[in-house]
Amino acid sequence: MRKTIAVLPGDGIGPEVTAAAIAVLKDCASAFRHEFEFLEFAFGGNAIDRFDNPLPPETLAGCRASDAILLGAIGGPRWESLPFGTRPEAGLLGLRKQLGLYINLRPIRLRPALRGISPLRLDRLGNTDFEIVRELAGDIYFGEHKITKEKASDLAEYSVFEIERVARYAFGRAAARKKHLTSIDKANVLASSTLWRDTVGSLAREYPEIALDHQYVDNASMQILLRPTQFDVILTGNMFGDILSDEAAALAGSIGLIPSLSCGAKDQPALYEPIHGSAPTLAGKDVACPLGAIFSSTLMLRESFDLQEESDWIESAVDRVLENGYRTADIAESNSRTVSGTEFTQQIREELKKSPARIAQVKSTA
Ligand code: IPM
Ligand code: MG
Repeated sequence: MRKTIAVLPGDGIGPEVTAAAIAVLKDCASAFRHEFEFLEFAFGGNAIDRFDNPLPPETLAGCRASDAILLGAIGGPRWESLPFGTRPEAGLLGLRKQLGLYINLRPIRLRPALRGISPLRLDRLGNTDFEIVRELAGDIYFGEHKITKEKASDLAEYSVFEIERVARYAFGRAAARKKHLTSIDKANVLASSTLWRDTVGSLAREYPEIALDHQYVDNASMQILLRPTQFDVILTGNMFGDILSDEAAALAGSIGLIPSLSCGAKDQPALYEPIHGSAPTLAGKDVACPLGAIFSSTLMLRESFDLQEESDWIESAVDRVLENGYRTADIAESNSRTVSGTEFTQQIREELKKSPARIAQVKSTA
């Protein structure tokens, strides 16, 4: 298989963690005889420094021309004082908008070896495994923002069309899992949430096999900590999804572990990125955990390229490295072998070398 991957390393720890993901993807390509071409583009703060624009036109064009996009992280204190529309974050929102990425999927899956680092007691944690589907192109993020010296406002807006298209995706994910969808809103207060609840409720008639329930976001944020095993797929708007996905990531033990997929328009490539930020205080110290980025690349193999075996091949190597006790500092336990980010990635690559891709022989003789 031949694929072109646009790489946006971004700022802070972004370049370190994307380098780890690319190294592992290259190992995968040679083991399974694929050709992955990586094309790097400036994005975020580094693009502001070089081109005075967080999303230069070449970057957007390069992304559009690719089969999938791998993003590190963007932002940092250097650019925080800029007016919002010119900050790194505006580049990310612009990219989501321009590419029609209205769906954001964040799988909350615990690695077996890492159950001990969850802040939750193991009896509550149980076999927690759920997916958050966050709407990504509407809501208070994209409504009109106004600010004067005395007053400011942000408009939270949703249309039936916007709600239905992301809800269909969530119903589809639930259909492929345990057939349970929880829609989260604030319909007891917000008009946009009332429309959200009504629209998702009506759509449910088309999916009779899915059990749909609704929760208010305040209650949901408590339920995620009290009884996370009740969730299968969560569907929620842009703002609530941003907040709840950080909370849910904490259950896995570190926000450094969780990948994400952003997609939408059929003719546009999907974008994969760890949900963590650019962590400026960790940058350049070789301590960042590359797993969010590596799991973003395995999510890419599965979701964009339909390469399930390849994805499993990498994830099981990661699990073995974790079983062997290797950890970066953020996910270390008292008895672990704490290593640098580079060393940790190297351990994964060693493990990959030890597990020949059986499928490669099958495919090459076919
Ligand atoms: C995320 C981030 C972004 C968001 C920021 C960086 C604009 O927090 O992807 O969750 O709020 O969507
Ligand atoms: Mg966020």
